[in-house]
Amino acid sequence: MPRNIILIGFMGSGKSTLARILSEQLGLPIVSTDDRIEQKEGRSIADIFKDSGEASFRDLERQVVLEIANTQGVIVDCGGGVVLNPRNIEILRKTGTLVYLSCQPEEILRRVMMQPKRPLLDVLDPLAKIRELLKERKPFYEQADMTLDTSDGDLHRVAREVIKEIK
Ligand code: S3P
Repeated sequence: MPRNIILIGFMGSGKSTLARILSEQLGLPIVSTDDRIEQKEGRSIADIFKDSGEASFRDLERQVVLEIANTQGVIVDCGGGVVLNPRNIEILRKTGTLVYLSCQPEEILRRVMMQPKRPLLDVLDPLAKIRELLKERKPFYEQADMTLDTSDGDLHRVAREVIKEIK
């Protein structure tokens, strides 16, 4: 069984798009932590944050990571905050290659504004919030095996670099 490819990075960094490209090119299925949580809970991420709070969401995220620990040969599309729990990183690392997609805050803002569904960025000054969270999370993201910048939006180039690295 091939090892997993685990995509980590901030909201809007291109994880889901890259997951789709890698899935097509490598013939591997995608497991999205956010989708799993929504399926299990039968409600949207936004509703989970609104009704149960971030701590409950993080607990659901932790449970999904534990399930993924037993899965091989998949592309894992992680929610941007998965890395906040060091145990999540430890577990995921054992299953495959951790790929961090980095991206400039202004470009992140442009992308997330096109798909507004991120409760954490539903604030008055989302760019300031993005900068603050990025600063806080950078040391966690940088524990990845490889870092690729997606600010130019060329996810096909990024996919080629991932494939070169894992072959
Ligand atoms: C979050 C990122 C989101 C989702 C939730 C929290 C975060 O996933 O898990 O809104 O803390 O960065 P995406 O990174 O897929 O948008």
